[in-house]
Amino acid sequence: MRRNPRRLAATAIAALALIAAVSARAIADGGGSSQGSSDSLRSLAAQVGLRVGTAVIPYDLDHPDYAQIAAGQFSVVTPGNEMKWQVVEPTRGTYDWSGGDRLVQFARAHGQLVRGHTLVWHNQLPDWLTQGVANGTISNAQLRNLLHKHITDEVTHFRGEIWQWDVANEFFTDSNPSGINPTDFWISHLGTGILADAFRWAHEADPHALLFYNDYNIAGEDGTNAKSDAVYAWVKQMLAQGVPINGIGDQGHLDTQYGFPTQMQQDLQRFADLGLKVAITEADVRTFVNDPTSQQPTDPLAASAQAHYYDDMLKACLAVRSCISFSVWGFGDADSWVPGTFAGEGYAGLYDVNLQPKPAYSDLQQDLELAAHGAPHRSGSGA
Ligand code: XIL
Repeated sequence: MRRNPRRLAATAIAALALIAAVSARAIADGGGSSQGSSDSLRSLAAQVGLRVGTAVIPYDLDHPDYAQIAAGQFSVVTPGNEMKWQVVEPTRGTYDWSGGDRLVQFARAHGQLVRGHTLVWHNQLPDWLTQGVANGTISNAQLRNLLHKHITDEVTHFRGEIWQWDVANEFFTDSNPSGINPTDFWISHLGTGILADAFRWAHEADPHALLFYNDYNIAGEDGTNAKSDAVYAWVKQMLAQGVPINGIGDQGHLDTQYGFPTQMQQDLQRFADLGLKVAITEADVRTFVNDPTSQQPTDPLAASAQAHYYDDMLKACLAVRSCISFSVWGFGDADSWVPGTFAGEGYAGLYDVNLQPKPAYSDLQQDLELAAHGAPHRSGSGA
C-alpha cells in the first residue's frame, strides 16, 4: 500500500512542532529540572537504552544548580580527575578515595552508573612514582608490580560500583601510520605487553565491569583514519589472544576549526562488529572565543557549528546499536578543561558559563526524541 505523502508531511510537521515545544520548555526551565523529567537528556535517551553521561568534578556538586543538572540530565557520570593515580595515591602507600567515593554515592542516590577513569595513563601520575623511575630507585620490575597493585587495589575498592572502566588511556601515536607509542612512559619501561596485563589484572579484580580502551581521534577525527586503523588492528589481536577487553571509547574532543569526522559511525560500527561495546566518553566541541571568562565565540557561525558537531556525534552513536553511552566532558563552560588547555578556545560544553543550555543542548534533545522512533535499542548490561 502506498503511503499518503500529504499525511506523512503533516505528521512530520506535527512531530517537529512537538520537538520545538519540548526544547523550548527545557530551555525555559534551564534544562536542569528534577531527575528524570520526561524531556531530560537521560529520560529521552533511556527510550533507546542509551546512557547519557558527563564528567563531574565532585566538589562542584556543592553548588545546587550544578548538582541539579548533573542529576537531572545524565544517567552515567565519570570523575574528571578523582580516580586518576595522582589523586588516589598522592603519597606512596596512602590512598585517598574521597573524591571517587563521593561521586559513587551521588550516582547511587540518583540512579546513575559510573565510568571509572582511568587506570593506566602517562599523565597525572604521582610524583613519587615518576621521580622514583627517573632516579632509578624504582626498577622496571618494581614498576610492573606497582602497576599491578594500583590496578588491583583501585578496581577492588570500587568493585561492583563501576559500569565501565577506562583501563588504558591514550597509548597510540597521532602519526600516520599510527601505532602504540614506543616513548610512552609505560611502554618504554614495560613493553607493549603491559596493556594486555592491565586488562587481565582489572578483570581479576572486578569480573563484572566492562573494560574499555579509551583514546582521542580514533573515530576518524585525524582525517586519515590512521589512528583508528591502528587501534582496530591492535584490539582485534587482543581479542584473538583472549584478553578481557569489552569496549572502545572514543573521547570525542572536537574543534570547529577542523572538519567533522565523517567516518565516525563506520569506525564505531567496525569496533562493534568485533563484538565490542563502544562509547563516546569525553565529548566536547571547542571553538575560538573572545575571552576565557565569558567564552563567546569570535565567529558568529561557530555557535551553530558547535551544536551541529554535537548533533552529528550523537547521531553516529545512536546509529550503532553497541554504542551504549554518550558522555560529555563536563557540561558547563565555566568548568571546562578547554580554556586552560587550548589557548584562545572555549565554549565547548552544552551549557554556557552561567549554566544556561545552549543550542547544542536542544539539538541533542531533538536527536534523542527522534531516535525513539527509529534508532536501534541498545541491549546488555546497564543499557
Ligand atoms: C583532564 C581534566 O579535565 C583536567 O581537569 C586535568 O587537568 C587534565 O585532564 N583526556 C582525558 C581526560 O582522558 O582525563 C582529560 O581530563 C582530558 C583529555
